[in-house]
Amino acid sequence: MDKQKDGLYFVLISVHGLIRGGELELGHDADTGGQTKYVVELARALADHPDVARVDLVTRRIQDANLSADYAQPVETLADKARIVRLPCGPPEYVRKESLWPYLDSFADHLWQHLQGAEKLPDLIHAHYADAGYVGARVAGMLGLPLVYTGHSLGRVKRERLLEQGFDIKDIEQQYTIDQRIEAEEQALDAAALVVTSTQQEVDEQYALYQAHQEKRCKVIPPGVDLSCFHPPRRGEAEPPIKNELRRFLKDVDKPMILALSRADERKNIGTLVQAYAEHPQLRKRANLVVVAGKREDIAEMEQGPRDVLTDLLLEIDRQDLYGSIAYPPQHTPDDVPDLYRLAAKTRGVFVNPALTEPFGLTLIEAAASGLPVVATQDGGPRDILKFCKHGLLIDPLDGPAMAEALYDALTDRDRWQRWSKNAVRGATTHYSWSGHVKTYLKAVNSLLRKTAAPSKPHGLHKPSAALDRLLISDIDNTLLGDADGLRALWERLQDSGQRVGFAVATGRRLESALKILDAWGLPVPDVLITAVGSEIHYGPDLKEDAHWHQLINFRWKLQALRWAMKAIPGLRLQAASEQRRYKISYNVNPGRLPPLAEIQSHLRKLDLHAKLIYSHQAYLDLLPLRASKGFAVRYLARQWSLPLNHLLVAGDSGNDEEMLRGNTLGVVVGNHSPELASLRGQPQVYFAKADYARGILEGCEHYGFLAPSGDLKNGDT
Ligand code: GLC
Ligand code: MG
Repeated sequence: MDKQKDGLYFVLISVHGLIRGGELELGHDADTGGQTKYVVELARALADHPDVARVDLVTRRIQDANLSADYAQPVETLADKARIVRLPCGPPEYVRKESLWPYLDSFADHLWQHLQGAEKLPDLIHAHYADAGYVGARVAGMLGLPLVYTGHSLGRVKRERLLEQGFDIKDIEQQYTIDQRIEAEEQALDAAALVVTSTQQEVDEQYALYQAHQEKRCKVIPPGVDLSCFHPPRRGEAEPPIKNELRRFLKDVDKPMILALSRADERKNIGTLVQAYAEHPQLRKRANLVVVAGKREDIAEMEQGPRDVLTDLLLEIDRQDLYGSIAYPPQHTPDDVPDLYRLAAKTRGVFVNPALTEPFGLTLIEAAASGLPVVATQDGGPRDILKFCKHGLLIDPLDGPAMAEALYDALTDRDRWQRWSKNAVRGATTHYSWSGHVKTYLKAVNSLLRKTAAPSKPHGLHKPSAALDRLLISDIDNTLLGDADGLRALWERLQDSGQRVGFAVATGRRLESALKILDAWGLPVPDVLITAVGSEIHYGPDLKEDAHWHQLINFRWKLQALRWAMKAIPGLRLQAASEQRRYKISYNVNPGRLPPLAEIQSHLRKLDLHAKLIYSHQAYLDLLPLRASKGFAVRYLARQWSLPLNHLLVAGDSGNDEEMLRGNTLGVVVGNHSPELASLRGQPQVYFAKADYARGILEGCEHYGFLAPSGDLKNGDT
């Protein structure tokens, strides 16, 4: 296969937070955490693989006096074949991820443009989190590339959690823009060929909450863990400093050690563990219990959560007289942690994770890498990890006596302990190293690429004139047409600008009907006609149809099944047969009876049917393939003719124009627009004209300096 010969080219998108190659500022705020580390490590690990030729990790460019200048560099080298690419997204300064939504169309356009500058297109796009999911679905769709998606955390889960905690649904929306996030996630799932998750539990309990979720597209690939400092005990190793600390607590420090390591958080369930240990006399006799629950100076001064946990711990120790057999060191350094696992392994002890819930369970992997068997709560994370590492037992965290029995059992069978310890080390390195991750990832990706044909190149229909370097693209009804004098004025200005300015229409009408009405208004055949709401493209003057466009948009489009599924929706009547196209289904709408669009969308998604729903003039509803729209068609055209997006002026008045008005083109909404376009106010680079119809277009041209005889176009931020 060709791809194999040149090596694979991956584009990873992770929009928000602070991303750079070194000294990650993890915890800077909620937006710079696990995901940041994940994407940087994934990019490096991928680039390390011989089958991979290039990795671009694409993120937002941030120029902010309060932050390092690293985040403002357009390109940063991560490794031989990997780099970070930073593209503009909204204001230059740092903003939280919830504020980025209005700028994602523009970011997507920057990425789209960036990818065309490269020698070849990527083999796939892998989007991380909802914001990148939205961007990835757009860009992959426009270029006909497969999309891989990883949500990292999901909006529906977050909303449920906040509701449980008693937050008000309106406040949640305001603070977290949850609806927008959830819709972006649904769109990412609509478009994704593969969803990579870290655990099976995420698939079963989180992604399963989504209408567009399909288990068959999910693949569990645990992230790599940096295991370089976790290894089994070695012969002749010096005694680690933490052992002396333990001596202050334990009568016989060399007894088998039961090690618990977690934050002092009620959900970590340390209380049940200590009680279980205390109430099992044989276990108390056989093993020490070491509880490392964060660091503390003065318990009385801590926040209530950890203060309660630690106070209960001390009271229980006293009540049960555990002195001499339990250690609870107040301080430890990062280096002590791997030492503790090794000490526990050396004493033939076990690691215990009694948490009430554990979606991932990094500590179990660290224990495994240290050759230390585990007893862990029977939740998603531990279940997966034990399946791969086979190094211990699962327990019910609420059943103290059974927990104690399991610990005792794990410590007494010598042969089994040995086996577990061996399995653990092997399992951790095969399943939880980044190189292991990449191996599994590439296997999944290769089988995906075998199934999806690489997009063929557009056949390059020629521009009508080599001089053409910008294009006016207008909707027809109620935008271009409506005011004859205005139209004459616009047309004269266009004629005056000569061959530099091309003329195209983008309409809901089919070709014949578009030609007819243009002719009736005295207009010639345009250079390009984008018809049937962007699902068909014809080039003037001989009206040659673009068949390649149909190849590109034919993605997850099931015409018959969609039409059938739509029968269940009230308030719809199919339009005339001539309006039903291969890639467009159109209805007349009775707005009083039509359910909200979101409901129709869920209805289709639940049936594994995928379409763009486009609502115009409160009168029409169109269904289009995910990859078709006026906006996508415009970009397809720009790509063929090598026109930058800010050399395209697009004008419209109603819902089916909305998508083409967003992003980095020069958008003009005419004064007489329908109410559904009001949502575009505040979008960068969308100009709301005061004048109606063609005069509104002309006003927009003036705003951007679009027809000016020479010089650069203004990027009119409105
Ligand atoms: C045009 C088309 C119709 C479509 C409408 C809205 O009127 O003829 O089929 O529903 O535009 O896009
Ligand atoms: Mg219109």
